[in-house]
Amino acid sequence: MRRMALTDRPPQNGMGDPAMALARRTEDVVVGDEIVRERLSARLVHWTVALTFFVCLFTGLPIWTPYLGSLANLFGGLHVCRVLHPWAGVAFAAASVLMFGQWVSQMKLTPADREFLKPRGLLRYFQYRNEDADVGKYNGGQKLLFWAAALGALGLLATGLVMWFPLGFGQRLREASYLLHDVAFSLFFAMIIGHIYLGTAAEPGTFRSMIRGTVTKSWAQLHHPRWYREVTSQRPKTDT
Ligand code: HEM
Repeated sequence: MRRMALTDRPPQNGMGDPAMALARRTEDVVVGDEIVRERLSARLVHWTVALTFFVCLFTGLPIWTPYLGSLANLFGGLHVCRVLHPWAGVAFAAASVLMFGQWVSQMKLTPADREFLKPRGLLRYFQYRNEDADVGKYNGGQKLLFWAAALGALGLLATGLVMWFPLGFGQRLREASYLLHDVAFSLFFAMIIGHIYLGTAAEPGTFRSMIRGTVTKSWAQLHHPRWYREVTSQRPKTDT
């Protein structure tokens, strides 16, 4: 955790929304009923990764199968998709490197995360029975997603480069790359669907951390009790 401070009373700094103003530069800070969770730079990097991922997806799918050929119309045709896709892939890989750098220090799996990932821990979490649990700013599942996304981005980049410059590589590697690129993108896509579901409909209040940069104290207490305790330096209430 990079920074911890307690700001119970919103600062009077002349800006309309003190929580959002603080969330530009800092995180892990309490402002009134909110906690700043993601600073602006982290949110910008995350949304750049997401945007470039979807450009890759929607330009790649019509190249992959004619059944999804109509998606190419979004970009002006299949030829445009063939040109755009590898460049969007490079942008996605570059944004993923930034995302990796910004979060890696917070994503090391701890023994508590391993407990969280056991069926018992997951059941407790999804039944909202983990007020006192040892779940920090990111839970074991989020950390796994982070590492899987890093590995997936690396795999997509490496196999994509082989397909982009086929003459530089042997036939075996080219054939393997076609297969692995498809497998990697299919797994990645399935993972991101789950991620979007958990970050929006499944856990109301989560999405705002990537928009406003803040979450409510009760959200933090429910989903990330150890982080809540660390940031507020107080025990979570068990009656909410
Ligand atoms: C429309 C698409 C997306 C939505 C709605 C979304 C939503 C979110 C939200 C709400 C969080 C914050 C979770 C929290 O504070 O606890 C988050 C974090 C994160 N997102 Fe996304 N995301 C999207 C796309 C992506 C993509 C494409 C990737 C990777 C390629 C990605 C990787 C991550 C990672 C690694 C984190 C940090 C770990 C975690 O909180 O799960 N996201 N996302």
